[in-house]
Amino acid sequence: MTDRYAVVGNPVAHSLSPRIHALFAAATAQDMRYAKLEAPPDGFAAAVERFLAAGGSGLNVTLPFKLQAWRWVDSHDEAARQSGAVNTIVLEGDRRHGCNTDGIGLVGDLTGNLAWPLLGARTLVLGAGGAVQGVLAPLQRAGVADLTIANRTLAKARRLADRIGAKACALADVDAGWDVVINGTSAGVGGTGQLVAPAVVLNSRCYDMFYALDGGTPFCRWAAAAGAQAVSDGLGMLVEQAAAAFALWRGVQPDTAGIVAALRGGTGRARDLP
Ligand code: ATR
Repeated sequence: MTDRYAVVGNPVAHSLSPRIHALFAAATAQDMRYAKLEAPPDGFAAAVERFLAAGGSGLNVTLPFKLQAWRWVDSHDEAARQSGAVNTIVLEGDRRHGCNTDGIGLVGDLTGNLAWPLLGARTLVLGAGGAVQGVLAPLQRAGVADLTIANRTLAKARRLADRIGAKACALADVDAGWDVVINGTSAGVGGTGQLVAPAVVLNSRCYDMFYALDGGTPFCRWAAAAGAQAVSDGLGMLVEQAAAAFALWRGVQPDTAGIVAALRGGTGRARDLP
């Protein structure tokens, strides 16, 4: 019987996850389908229960439900426990095991695909919401230096930073001199992309955890214009976190090479801008 998976979120209409998992399934000869499941803001548990009762085999969880998912599952893997957020639900008999593959996805894209060195890299993360929560400990494990969380609401950055022994500051007060700057705020869509003073990103490598199929998110465009050394959107992170979820469900590690280019229309367009 064909196994069924889904991504639950709101909105999910534009999610690329079904395409990514279809590419993985075809490449690894796995008999599975992967759909989008839009739940109302107060309907996460009901939607997920229905999907599993109808025979669903596992789920990805996206915004705004990663924290609710953390509370809903029966157990956590190390990454989920540390981050307080769940993006992958794996069934273990009757138990629902909550995992978080966001950090593997980000660090895998930065170091594996982009070859941006993280060891000793002074690293600034913009934002303190659900998108950021899962990636902080993995960045620390990758050996970044001076990990700092900058957020519009300072108290939220402080809470996250205190949990992992990082630094916190307000977006308006960020210093210059970073090797890597990662945007995890949801501010970008439709905006100018500017979150901090241009001097903050001068000569740094700038990564947007959000993506646009042409690579040109507002934050990436702004950072390139402000003198960043390199910029990348987060499509590679999406593919890498999906591969890690796929491996948890299917026990097979899919090859991610070429998937980003396929999603961008087969152009193979480099993600680093001049
Ligand atoms: P989630 O937890 O679902 O990711 P969230 O908690 O609303 O969503 O987090 C969104 C992030 O984007 C937060 O860091 C938010 O900053 P605040 O904590 O100050 O709200 C940030 N964000 C959203 N819109 C922004 C804007 N216009 N400028 C700067 N930061 C913004």
